[in-house]
Amino acid sequence: MKRIVLPSVSYRSAFYKMAGEYRDADDGRYYRDVAREGFDFEEYVTRLHRHSKGIGLERGLVAYTTYWLVDGGDTIFGVSRLRHSLNANSRKEGGHIGYDVPPSLRNAGNATELLRQTLAKAKAMGIMRALVTCDAANAASAKVIKKNGGKLENQVISDFTGRVVNRYWINC
Ligand SMILES: CC(C)(COP(=O)(O)OP(=O)(O)OC[C@H]1O[C@@H](n2cnc3c(N)ncnc32)[C@H](O)[C@@H]1OP(=O)(O)O)[C@@H](O)C(=O)NCCC(=O)NCCS
Repeated sequence: MKRIVLPSVSYRSAFYKMAGEYRDADDGRYYRDVAREGFDFEEYVTRLHRHSKGIGLERGLVAYTTYWLVDGGDTIFGVSRLRHSLNANSRKEGGHIGYDVPPSLRNAGNATELLRQTLAKAKAMGIMRALVTCDAANAASAKVIKKNGGKLENQVISDFTGRVVNRYWINC
């Protein structure tokens, strides 16, 4: 059974496998970190834990917890990030929760499960209604959000991409 876990150094090879997959897909996600000179996986995991406590955050970011979807084997099936609160930026277009699934593991329900379990973590944290957003052209993500009960509030234009962003609320 797949479950979300906090980042841990025990998933080192799974993490590198995931980063390599993004590299092969020409997507810098995670690989950007790994490829940085002096990258240290243990330090990376420690940094994620610090960020979940609100320590060492870049300016403009709020505390967030990262989760990895795993099944006990050597694979990370997806990554989610749960913001503990919203600021002006995330209230407009970032939302409480972001997620991604490695290219070879898509269309198998992984993001749907990842979001479902992350919403339960949000509820445990006292977030009763989660804002989840996606680019209006991201049909797969819109489907994942709707399958988790997302109700479209409105559409806004992203300050970063200039593209239309769908804003959904989900009762946790
Ligand atoms: C969006 C993303 C997380 C979806 O992950 P996933 O594991 O494939 O999602 P799921 O398998 O749980 O569900 C995807 C659904 O979208 C559908 N889908 C996939 N591509 C689609 C497309 N181009 N058009 C319409 N529907 C599509 C799938 O059929 C599936 O629906 P179903 O369960 O009814 O068959 C993944 O594509 C990803 O990581 N993309 C890059 C990062 C990203 O966009 N993150 C979201 C930011 S808001």
